[in-house]
Amino acid sequence: MSTPSMSLIERAAKRLEELRRAGVDSDAASKGTETAPANAAIERLPTPEAAMRAHARASAATTTEERTPLAEVPVVEPSPAQGRTPRPSVELDLDDLARRGFLTPESPRSQLSDEMRVVKRPIMRNALGVRGVRVRNGNLVMVTSAVSGEGKTFTSINLAMSLATELDTRVLLVDGDVAHPGLPRVLGIPQSPGLLDLLTTPGLAIGDTLLHTNIPMLSIMPAGSIHRRATELLASEQMAELLRELGSRYADRIIVFDSPPILAATESRVLASHMGQILMVVAADSTLQSEVSLALSAIDSCEIVHMMLNKATRTDVGAYYGYFADGAQ
Ligand SMILES: Nc1ncnc2c1ncn2[C@@H]1O[C@H](COP(=O)(O)OP(=O)(O)O)[C@@H](O)[C@H]1O
Ligand SMILES: [Mg+2]
Repeated sequence: MSTPSMSLIERAAKRLEELRRAGVDSDAASKGTETAPANAAIERLPTPEAAMRAHARASAATTTEERTPLAEVPVVEPSPAQGRTPRPSVELDLDDLARRGFLTPESPRSQLSDEMRVVKRPIMRNALGVRGVRVRNGNLVMVTSAVSGEGKTFTSINLAMSLATELDTRVLLVDGDVAHPGLPRVLGIPQSPGLLDLLTTPGLAIGDTLLHTNIPMLSIMPAGSIHRRATELLASEQMAELLRELGSRYADRIIVFDSPPILAATESRVLASHMGQILMVVAADSTLQSEVSLALSAIDSCEIVHMMLNKATRTDVGAYYGYFADGAQ
């Protein structure tokens, strides 16, 4: 293994060790090791009252429309003025996605699906709780990278697909890379109200922006209308408020944010500070070690950072995709 990646791995390993000591599940390296939750993790447990409030909010949020089976939902052009019309749905071309190398619910077992499984397990445990231990905002998962082109969109979609094939795991995939939305291009979803509109259009409800898909457990929130202050909005107080609402109102879902690269804009660091977990994608062989180090220090505010090596073609990490921790073993 080359020297530049060693220091990265060491850094990742150090971080993992810190997290492990705090009783938090952060990656595949801890699989099979039952760690008793330490005080740091226990302090993050919601009080029973808070849990009941969250439950009440979640129940109130479940409208009749949200329970409407997919087959009965007509495809409509969403409009804020329509208020509570049935949510639109989008038909993802799963065969085409599979042909382009993405995971789909029908994908046969493959190296990619196995590697994604390794990535998603700790994310699920932190998001949904194990033995009652739930990480604060653990269901808000930011997928980011130091610079663009490292595979954030590719990974966000695969993670969402992989999670959505789990029994009882609902997933919301949010296009949070608002200046360069990747989901329309890859998934072929039409322009419709989304994240930015929620921040700029009074009266628009979260439910008005969610797209059902032909994968029952997966819904999508597009980036929304082009906005000249798009990236700035990500760091606004409205955004923080929206994230709080999303996290608590959709407590039963894992919300995956395809996000802007950390080094491209300071706003993405603010966004990171509201997330319960971050999946940092690192393009092996192309991203500079100094860039990754800088990005890692910029997201120090989030306690749980998973790191994933993408586009690794060398056999010493054994995979196209792979955890740093795996590579370090
Ligand atoms: N593991 C991978 N296998 C195959 N293609 C990949 C992989 N990761 C990324 N790509 C491709 O690399 C390009 C950039 O990835 P993308 O996810 O759009 O990057 P980002 O969203 O970080 O800017 C896309 O064409 C994507 O399909
Ligand atoms: Mg992208």
